[in-house]
Amino acid sequence: MPMNDYTIASSSAGRIRVEDKRIINCNADVNQLVPFKYKWAWEKYISACANHWMPQEVNMSADIALWKNPNGLTDDERLMVKRNLGFFTTADSLAANNIVLGTYRHITNPECRQYLLRQAFEEAIHTHAYQYIVESLGLDEGEIFNMYHEVSSIREKDEFLLPFIDTLTNPNFKTGTPETDRQLLRSLIVFACIMEGLFFYVGFVQILALGRQNKMTGAAEQYQYIMRDESMHLNFGVDVINQIKLENPHLWTPEFREEIRGLMQQGVELEYRYAEDTMPRGVLGMNASMFKEYLRFIANRRCQQIGLDVLYPGAGNPFPWMAEIIDLKKEKNFFETRVTEYQTGGALSWD
Ligand SMILES: [Fe+2]
Ligand SMILES: [Fe+2]
Repeated sequence: MPMNDYTIASSSAGRIRVEDKRIINCNADVNQLVPFKYKWAWEKYISACANHWMPQEVNMSADIALWKNPNGLTDDERLMVKRNLGFFTTADSLAANNIVLGTYRHITNPECRQYLLRQAFEEAIHTHAYQYIVESLGLDEGEIFNMYHEVSSIREKDEFLLPFIDTLTNPNFKTGTPETDRQLLRSLIVFACIMEGLFFYVGFVQILALGRQNKMTGAAEQYQYIMRDESMHLNFGVDVINQIKLENPHLWTPEFREEIRGLMQQGVELEYRYAEDTMPRGVLGMNASMFKEYLRFIANRRCQQIGLDVLYPGAGNPFPWMAEIIDLKKEKNFFETRVTEYQTGGALSWD
């Protein structure tokens, strides 16, 4: 049986050995960080800290002027921005709660937990960023923050996610049998590959597409930092998933793999509906069918990352500029407005 989260190994257990460490159902003391087994987890923690940023560092005055100018944006663009925020304002709270109240307890490895602690704080920063945008633009908070109840394409995405989050946050849920271990793995895949890896991407494309046309550049700059964080969350999730598979190959049955591909397909459909609902007429030279292709392209990539056959052979990327932004090194941001690497301590005064 795995120890409780807070159990301190008795001295009779001896010193912790690398070979005793496991991602799930581990008996080694989780209070001792080293010796490292999963260096990729520690390296991601270090990189994530080096990417630190805060929303209020980003100047929103151009966005505010544009939003207040009756001719600044079209009605379609305004609807898109509001529904975009309507999803994201609550999505990252959901993500934070899932990590803190769910995932964290079940991942029995201290270097992975170290990254999860950082990730949880980043989710708080993202929620802060969306709130900061809503406040800066003077949007109706009640309207935006309730869209996850009131706009069906947003509600359906959240309703799809909730059962998988509830599994992990249920205080009675424990891993340790093939069935419960598979339940955990399923939830981790839904969270990393479908929520962070698919449900965020229509929204990222929308705001970054505005930024490319020199509109809403402050919001776009923040979304760029968020996307950088999220792509690391996704990559960490993928590493965790693949490591669990490696350590527990009996979980990865053909039936389970097919089930996951089915969930991925459902995710693509829900996100496509969200694309149609946020851009009913097409906007900024983008239309719904481009998003259909894009979501298929991304879903294929997510399948490959966790060792599944692709769902949509031949799907291409209609937004190659998104790949460029994701691949950008942190030295300069896409809009070249500032150096995006956080200058740790630069803003502190010691006198
Ligand atoms: Fe986030
Ligand atoms: Fe995230």
